[in-house]
Amino acid sequence: MTLPKHVRIVEVGPRDGLQNESEPVSTAIKIELIDRLAAAGFVEIEAASFVSPRWVPQMADGSAVMAGISRIAGVRYSVLVPNLRGLEGAIAAGVDEVVVFGAASESFSQRNINCSIAESMERFRPVAVAAKAAGLSLRGSVSCALGCPFEGAVAPSAVADVVARLADLGCDYIDIADTIGVATPNQVFPAFEAAIRQFPLERLSGHFHDTHGQAIANVMAALQCGVTIFHSSIAGLGGCPYAPGATGNVATEDLLYLFQGLGISTGVDLDAAVAIGQWISERLGRRATTRAGNALASKRARLAATRTGVPSPCNSVCTIDPQTGLCAGCGRTLDQIARWSVMSDDEKRAVCATLPT
Ligand code: HMG
Ligand code: MG
Repeated sequence: MTLPKHVRIVEVGPRDGLQNESEPVSTAIKIELIDRLAAAGFVEIEAASFVSPRWVPQMADGSAVMAGISRIAGVRYSVLVPNLRGLEGAIAAGVDEVVVFGAASESFSQRNINCSIAESMERFRPVAVAAKAAGLSLRGSVSCALGCPFEGAVAPSAVADVVARLADLGCDYIDIADTIGVATPNQVFPAFEAAIRQFPLERLSGHFHDTHGQAIANVMAALQCGVTIFHSSIAGLGGCPYAPGATGNVATEDLLYLFQGLGISTGVDLDAAVAIGQWISERLGRRATTRAGNALASKRARLAATRTGVPSPCNSVCTIDPQTGLCAGCGRTLDQIARWSVMSDDEKRAVCATLPT
C-alpha cells in the first residue's frame, strides 16, 4: 500500500465544531481557540461562517472573531459564505479563503441553504467571480456526498455532477463531505473515483463526520485513493444544525494519532492538539469526543502525578492579550501554554524564570 509522506489538515473546529453548540459560545473563547490552534502548527483553520444569523445563530459573530484573532503568517483562515452578502462580510474581515457549500442531494440543499442545487450554483457564480477578483482562495464543499438524512444513499454520479459544477465555478479546492457520518469505506472509493474524474486529486479533500464511528476507517480509504487533504475538528466537536442526527467531525487528535502511527507528517504538534482539545472541552463543560485525545490526556495526567510538579502559572486559566499574543496574567506565549502539560519540570522552571514577576 502506497501512502503519502505528508498530508494537510484543515482544522474546522471553530466553524463546523462550534456552529452546532446549543449554548452560546463567547467570541473570546472562539478567538482563543483559533489562536491556540495556529500556535500548535495548524496552517489551515476554518474560523467562522458569514451566513444568516437567523439560520445559524452560533456563527453570528464572524466579523468580531476575525477581528480579534492574532494572525499568524502562513496560516490560511477560511470562512463559509452562502451568498454575495456573506462574501462582502468575509472580504471586509480580511479572510484568506471563502467556502461555498453546495450539496449532492436536493433535499439537503433545500434544508441547508433554502434553494435547489442548480439555484445554489447560480448564487455561487457571482460569489466565485468576486472572490477571485479580491484575490481570495475559493473552496467548494459537497455536502451529503456519501448519504443524505432525507434521501438516503447518494449516487457517485450525483457527486461527480456537483464537483464538475464547482470546478466550473473556478474552485481551487473541493471537499467531499460525509455530512451525517454514515458512510463505510466501500462507499468512499466510488465517491472519490467519481470526483477524481472531474477535479485534480491533489486539490480534493475528505471531510468525514464520525456519527457511526467510521470516520477513521473512511480517512484510511480516502488515503488509499490518494487524497492528501483532510478536515477534522479538535475534540471531535461539531455537527450540522440542518442534518438531523449528525455528530461531530473526525476528531483532530484521532487523525493526528493515525498519521503519526503511519509515519505521515502533518506539521501539527499532537501533544499541543490534545491540550487544546481538553481545554475547549472544559470550556464547553463536557468530555472531549476523541479516543486518542482522551487516552493521551489521561496518560499525561498519570505522568504528571509522578513528577515533582511545577504549578502552571495562572493555574492554566490564561487570557490572551490580542495585542501582544501573551497571557495577560502570566505572560506566557500561546505555545508555552499549549505545551505546558508535556514539558519536563526543568523546561517549566526555565519558562517561569523568563516570566515577569
Ligand atoms: P433565505 O432565508 O432563503 O435567504 O436563506 P434570505 O435572503 O431571505 O435571508 C434571510 C435573512 O438572512 C435576511 O434577514 C437576510 O438579510 C439575512 P432578515 O431580513 O430576515 O432580517 N442574510 C444574511 N445575514 C448575514 N449574512 C448573510 C446573509 N444572507 C442572508 N450572508 C441563506 C438563505 C443561504 C442565507 C440561509 O439558508 C443560510 O444562511 N444558510 C446557512 C446554513 C448553514 O450555515 N449551515 C451549516 C453550514 S454547512 C455544513 O455544516 C456542512 C459542511 O460542514 C460540510 C459537511 O459536513 O457536509 C460545510
Ligand atoms: Mg461538516
